[in-house]
Amino acid sequence: MGGFWTQSFPPSPKFTETNVHDLVGKVFIVTGGNAGIGLELVKILYSKGATVYMAGRSATKIAAEIEAIKATSTQSPGHLKSLIVDLGDLTTISNCASTFLAQESRLDVLFNNAGISRQPAGSVSTQGYEAHIGTNCLGPFLLTKLLLPILLQTAKSAPKASVRVVFTSSGLVDIAGPPGGLSLSELAPGKHSTDINRNYSASKAGNWFLASEFDKRTSKDGVVCVVQSPGTLRTKGWDGTPWLVRLAMAPLFYPPKMGAYTALWAGLSPEVKSEDGGKVIIPWGRWHTSPKKDILASLKTKEEGGTGLAAEFWDYCETHTKEFAA
Ligand SMILES: NC(=O)c1ccc[n+]([C@@H]2O[C@H](COP(=O)([O-])OP(=O)(O)OC[C@H]3O[C@@H](n4cnc5c(N)ncnc54)[C@H](OP(=O)(O)O)[C@@H]3O)[C@@H](O)[C@H]2O)c1
Repeated sequence: MGGFWTQSFPPSPKFTETNVHDLVGKVFIVTGGNAGIGLELVKILYSKGATVYMAGRSATKIAAEIEAIKATSTQSPGHLKSLIVDLGDLTTISNCASTFLAQESRLDVLFNNAGISRQPAGSVSTQGYEAHIGTNCLGPFLLTKLLLPILLQTAKSAPKASVRVVFTSSGLVDIAGPPGGLSLSELAPGKHSTDINRNYSASKAGNWFLASEFDKRTSKDGVVCVVQSPGTLRTKGWDGTPWLVRLAMAPLFYPPKMGAYTALWAGLSPEVKSEDGGKVIIPWGRWHTSPKKDILASLKTKEEGGTGLAAEFWDYCETHTKEFAA
């Protein structure tokens, strides 16, 4: 079960807003920053004086949240800005990246937080990919790739291991999903699984693979890529779940702010070092000590004794997004 109990009933968080000091001058992007876990994370970063870009698909929702945060956090010297992107539509990603790059000369942490779950069987992204893979993996892959130059540039003068990319996984990867995390053959048109948990879990294993593969390419130049599983949080992400399941799960639900603490640890804790890239973080900010062996094998190349699945998935993302990179 890969640590189901410790992820479901985590110890108290040890890295919260009280441990984060001045973030004035630092720049962050939080995708899905207008709701749930992402919104709570934005509030913490902004309260410490950071410039925070809330990236999402609804300008109206983002503007409403910016107004609400500013109304309650009046003393912050920080800045809140809106970035429009639909991660399920690859045609929108490069415009999002270039809009950001036109305004900023640094990016300290990219939080790839936005995600969808429980999409009905047969759902596809705008370009026709399985919906979870399209929105949770292909979009964030391309966004990360387009923002890598500014992350690498920032790392040249930032404290060691402070420039990071945080991908978002799920505890479901520990208990569901195809062997090895995901099945490349199920990504082909017409071959998508009809099991929605399997599709979601595969996309969340995909996020783990992307953290690991990006890190292999960036860590020598100072950008650390990690993945975090935020916990089980009461957010609208669970809206499509049958009420009986939600009722049964009630004791496992925590306020979304607790999930923000997991992401905060991943993005800002000094406990995350250069050599930690590709590792998984669990609630409310600590290392996963018992990941599934088949997932660990996916992260290793065949030469290292693994299956090379994560590298194959990175190549899949590269191939299917490259025409949208310009
Ligand atoms: N809540 C949990 O128990 C839990 C557990 C494990 C992992 N997670 C992961 O944590 C992350 C945040 O989830 P949450 O629970 O906070 O969910 P949420 O409340 O539903 O928020 C999801 C955010 O992602 C945005 N989003 C969805 N589709 C998008 C798209 N195509 N393009 C851009 N933005 C999009 C949403 O924007 P809109 O407001 O426009 O929809 C929203 O801001 C997700 O990656 C999720 O898989 C959550």
